[in-house]
Amino acid sequence: MTTNMIALVTGANKGIGLATARQLGARGMTVLVGARDAERGRAAERELRDGGADARFVPLDVTDAGSVARVAALVEQDYGRLDVLVNNAGVALGVAGPGLPSETDVNVLRQTYETNVVGVVAVTNALLPLLRRAAAARIVNVSSEVGSVALMTDPTSFLWPIASVPYPSSKTALNMVTAMYAKELRNTPVKVNAANPGYCATDLNGHSGFRTPEQGAEVSVHLATLPADGPTGRLWGFLADGDGAYGVLPW
Ligand SMILES: NC(=O)c1ccc[n+]([C@@H]2O[C@H](COP(=O)([O-])OP(=O)(O)OC[C@H]3O[C@@H](n4cnc5c(N)ncnc54)[C@H](OP(=O)(O)O)[C@@H]3O)[C@@H](O)[C@H]2O)c1
Repeated sequence: MTTNMIALVTGANKGIGLATARQLGARGMTVLVGARDAERGRAAERELRDGGADARFVPLDVTDAGSVARVAALVEQDYGRLDVLVNNAGVALGVAGPGLPSETDVNVLRQTYETNVVGVVAVTNALLPLLRRAAAARIVNVSSEVGSVALMTDPTSFLWPIASVPYPSSKTALNMVTAMYAKELRNTPVKVNAANPGYCATDLNGHSGFRTPEQGAEVSVHLATLPADGPTGRLWGFLADGDGAYGVLPW
């Protein structure tokens, strides 16, 4: 694996993002640890450095335009380019409630989209000039199988019982965002893919997932390190209906 690569992971202070930062760091990349809380970000930076990674905390709230602009300016000034962007920060608000579409709290819907969709577009656009300067940049948008319209509307799928709007539809939107960036960038070396980490035990779901954050991070790392002939514009990762294998999921 090439060293001296610069990677930015958003929401890297815990969960799948922290594990992704650890794994990218273990591959010799300089990892910028995006976190909206300075204390949590510095703690993650310390933990990653103690583990041998070249990690650096960067303050980043993906819903704050000023914060996004400051990170882009910092990366430009200190590195001049960005090789890997993992749009990992995400929220699943109000999932403990009944979750039926007819009971959707529009404020929860707005907040969810602000982070899971608008935040990704804002961060990507701020960093795209720097990603274009890298030899072969990779953008990974951490999505979910619950964003797959095909799986969520298949009565034979284990996802069929879920009928909530905010989180699933935000990941559906993120899937389209991914596909559109891949289309725009199809004649460049930049690859843009959506990751399905599978159901991982993190704070997001009260640690109810059956996979570890490290296993979830493997998916993002695979897409962040794709070779030149690798795919772009795919939803790829854990195939829950497929004996634990990895592969392309339907949109
Ligand atoms: N866990 C799963 O089963 C699963 C499955 C499919 C997809 N995913 C996706 O995987 C990604 C990581 O989730 P996770 O499971 O690791 O959850 P997590 O442990 O709750 O981590 C979420 C991370 O996102 C950060 N974040 C939230 N809002 C942010 C904002 N406005 N700006 C910057 N950072 C923000 C959090 O920071 P704070 O600590 O400050 O809150 C935290 O670092 C998410 O996109 C999630 O949707 C998870």
